[in-house]
Amino acid sequence: MGSITRREFLAAGAVAGVAAGAVGPTAAARAAWRPARRSARRQAGPVVVASSNGQAAVARALEVIQGGGDPLDAVIAGVNLVEEDPEDYTVGYGGLPNALGVVQLDSCCMHGPTHRAGGVAALEGFKYPSRVARLVMESTDHVLLVGAGARQFALENGFVEENLLTETSRQIWLYWRGALADHDDYLPPDVSAFTPEAQRIIADNPELFYPEQRRPTGTINCCAVDAAGNIAGVTTTSGLFFKIPGRVGDSPIVGAGLYVDNDVGAAGSTGRGEANLLNLSSFLIVEEMRRGLSPTEACLAGCRRIAENNVEERLQRPDGRPDFNVSFYALNKEGEYGSASIYGPGGFAVAGAGGPARREDRAVLFPPG
Ligand code: GLY
Repeated sequence: MGSITRREFLAAGAVAGVAAGAVGPTAAARAAWRPARRSARRQAGPVVVASSNGQAAVARALEVIQGGGDPLDAVIAGVNLVEEDPEDYTVGYGGLPNALGVVQLDSCCMHGPTHRAGGVAALEGFKYPSRVARLVMESTDHVLLVGAGARQFALENGFVEENLLTETSRQIWLYWRGALADHDDYLPPDVSAFTPEAQRIIADNPELFYPEQRRPTGTINCCAVDAAGNIAGVTTTSGLFFKIPGRVGDSPIVGAGLYVDNDVGAAGSTGRGEANLLNLSSFLIVEEMRRGLSPTEACLAGCRRIAENNVEERLQRPDGRPDFNVSFYALNKEGEYGSASIYGPGGFAVAGAGGPARREDRAVLFPPG
């Protein structure tokens, strides 16, 4: 068998590309085919929205956009602050681990102008899964890498592997395991030996440890539109607390935990990922904005769709409504933004649209009473 040098290989590829160009559309023809699709139109200035844990993230992202950065640079720089924060137990470093005590992270990002996306799922050992997701988007022909393959990809690209399980997260997990069942061999641990932060979280969040209540999920979603109307978004999470190893939520799945269309807007989510996987909620919300709904109305439509499709009794409260919560965050190309959840109260983070980073109230599908 003959061998081929790298130079010959590249030359062969170039010839093949020219040949393909002779029969397929040229780049110019492709651009002419959909001339307005990726172009910007008037909007009201940069805006960044995020989940309620994203106050610092939206401030950082707005700074990057105001400094001339791409909205994707902006949202990733924003969520990196939360990924590296050991006191956010729902994202990145310090995130609560899976049932085996291993932190497994999910993330995806999407860039409106190029309509490209990248994601990683069940990634272990890297503090910034959003950066790895971005590199999947930028340096491969794929959209999603998972598990051992995602880890290998991160290592090959120089990401530094580290232990993401903080002492506090490890102790909370130990407590969960000890409290899980009366008929296993683990006795409840002595919490008086735990860090004060672990003791506080255990005392303040009984819902984490009682199987009859649905365990909460955290996550950060952050979306931005710049002054030219270009849009990007990212979602990153450690997922459901104490999940079955290998469980993947909505956060790394384009259309479920995040979606961006540069002609319309962006949407992302926090909360029960399974509900978004079953309804492709972020895609739905962007499509509702395309049909003319405001971001807040579109987020409420996403909540409504989940409630309507939630027909399994085991996932319902006695009144038939979902026994879990999901929240959405959205913005459109005109710089309008909004957020809604199935149940309130709650807020979300915003920066821009004439103001600094701030918290605003979410709309609620089922208000109390
Ligand atoms: N929405 C985050 C998760 O379910 O993993």
